[in-house]
Amino acid sequence: MRILVTGGAGFIGSALVRRLIAHTDHEVLVYDKLTYAGVLSSLEPVASSNRYSFVQADVCDAEAVAKALREFKPDVVAHLAAESHVDRSIDGPGEFIQTNMVGTFVMLNQALGYWRGLDEAAKARFRFHHISTDEVFGSLGEEGFFTETTPYDPRSPYSASKAGSDHLVRAWGHTYGLPVLVTNCSNNYGPYHFPEKLIPLIIIRALNGEPLPVYGDGSNVRDWLFVDDHARALQAVFETGTPGETYNVGGNAERKNIEVVTAICSILDRLRPKAEGKYADQITYVTDRPGHDHRYAIDASKIRADLGWTPSVTFEEGIERTVVWYLENQAWWQAILDARYATQRLGVA
Ligand code: NAD
Ligand code: DAU
Repeated sequence: MRILVTGGAGFIGSALVRRLIAHTDHEVLVYDKLTYAGVLSSLEPVASSNRYSFVQADVCDAEAVAKALREFKPDVVAHLAAESHVDRSIDGPGEFIQTNMVGTFVMLNQALGYWRGLDEAAKARFRFHHISTDEVFGSLGEEGFFTETTPYDPRSPYSASKAGSDHLVRAWGHTYGLPVLVTNCSNNYGPYHFPEKLIPLIIIRALNGEPLPVYGDGSNVRDWLFVDDHARALQAVFETGTPGETYNVGGNAERKNIEVVTAICSILDRLRPKAEGKYADQITYVTDRPGHDHRYAIDASKIRADLGWTPSVTFEEGIERTVVWYLENQAWWQAILDARYATQRLGVA
């Protein structure tokens, strides 16, 4: 198969590309604008493969999208490109509307024109796979899970822009017959996670002796999934999923934020003890995120029943592997910090 991956230089996209090159015969074209969040060194492990190629372009650029489709002739478009950080969407929603909604519209329209021009066999094979988030469903109380039929209730500019893009994708499926797939996944973590997100931010700030900012009282709950398990789910969905269907993907690993932070501190205490005191001494409770969703939790029974996918990495294994990866790969994250990608976020205290 030939897979065009938008956002392939990002955290999840690069994990998918590394998986596809290492474990399949698929050919991959990464289509990525290389925003502040696009990190080419995350693709270094596949750079020498003759099944991998890269184009730097914007998903909002219709001509560039059309050219990539025409020249690469994909069987699958895996659309991951997005502005992904909730706090940034609160500070500046414009880019989120542009990339996540307008960009998805452009991708759909160009994919539709491309798909209509294919011969019958290629047309039947083609899939437009939109990668989305559990945040479109809103916020849960202490009970219950998000299923594929949970009504949408997005509450941040980020989740609203992703909800809008999900609706566009389904509309292109219903109205024009484009063979679309949607996945809504919970919080990912693992190697190559951009340092503004909770888990890498805490690991790096702990190592740098800086305060560890926990929003509010730390009781918000996320359902954590090791990123390689998500990549495996995405592959299962575009290879074997039914067009028109939505699949929820989750880690079955709910943790309060404060539990995540203290787990990281305990691992660091063991692997890289401080001369004095414990890493948890650096924890600092800070002003809460506006509109902070309380709890997300995914019911992933449909993808398990229909496609046989389940998470393979427990949170305890995954968080240990992640901390070890950050200890062993300082060059990767230090280069990002040195580029001063986002002083406004790293400076949270
Ligand atoms: P990321 O921010 O790490 O990467 C986004 C990538 O998209 C970057 O490489 C960036 O350069 C690229 N990009 C941004 N705007 C672009 C544009 N206009 N044109 C082309 N490329 C552009 O994001 P991520 O965490 O890897 O998330 C990938 C996708 O998965 C997103 O759609 C996100 O909504 C979704 N998702 C993320 C999570 C998570 O926990 N991170 C969970 C569920 C769903
Ligand atoms: O649920 C899936 C979503 O998970 C994805 O769609 C998003 O793209 C991804 O960024 C992630 O969103 P979150 O807002 O849940 O992730 P973040 O890492 O920003 O925050 C995780 C939790 O930790 C959240 O409850 C806010 C809190 N937090 C975050 C940061 C950055 C803190 O307490 N302190 C922090 O410094």
